[in-house]
Amino acid sequence: MSRDDRPELHIFEEADGVARAAAWEFRRRAARVVAARGRFTAVLSGGSTPERLFRLLREGPETPGQDPPPWSRVHLFWGDERPVPPDHPDSNFGAARQLLLAGLAIPAANVHRIRGEIDEPSRAAAEYEAEIRAFFDLEEGEAPRFDLVFLGIGADGHTASLFPGGAALAAGGLVAAVWVERLGTFRITLTPRVFNRAACVIFLVSGESKAEILERVVVGTEAPQLLPALAIRPESGEILWLVDRAAARLLAGQG
Ligand code: 6PG
Repeated sequence: MSRDDRPELHIFEEADGVARAAAWEFRRRAARVVAARGRFTAVLSGGSTPERLFRLLREGPETPGQDPPPWSRVHLFWGDERPVPPDHPDSNFGAARQLLLAGLAIPAANVHRIRGEIDEPSRAAAEYEAEIRAFFDLEEGEAPRFDLVFLGIGADGHTASLFPGGAALAAGGLVAAVWVERLGTFRITLTPRVFNRAACVIFLVSGESKAEILERVVVGTEAPQLLPALAIRPESGEILWLVDRAAARLLAGQG
């Protein structure tokens, strides 16, 4: 990553600040896109980092500066999912349903989950790809342009379920079912091709455990096969990194 395309990093004192900034961006972009085009498409990430964001979006804006998102015009998708049913503790959709969707006035038809309960992960991936193609009315070979994508990063540099050395990094489709050796399980994931078509990608990173990988991202000289988060380079969209001070500890001037 040459100097001029180093990531745009915003550092907040605490993880709560990361979540508040992410909620602000979601509301701001949802209002603008719905006003312009009538609907807003967002991809949610999994893991624990987005849980604060989910709660803030459900509770609504705490500042008078923003209205709640126009949920009836918001469509939610997932960046990846584990091969489990929604009520399983590992389900990314299950976490979002509990922390965000419960009690939210969003139509069920606007919630586009990956059906992790399908016994064949490749069939779950194919079904999700078909749903995305139909929703965006895509031509053959065309990828969707999501308005906003949230991503996290693992300490090994994975993002969504794009793991180091994983096949999904080179997948030609929109959705891939991948065996993750380190976890001993399959995952279903959107591919870099989809993430890189997005209008905006926001990475949420918090905690001491992410300090080393975030430094590797900022240095940015590694191959995406080794550090999959570096495969996320939107062709014509924005990419923001919202991080807390603990995760930024090893960055120049932050120690
Ligand atoms: C998943 C996520 C994954 C996550 C990172 C960070 O399904 O686990 O999509 O890519 O974003 O592993 O997870 P934490 O937020 O729990 O650190």
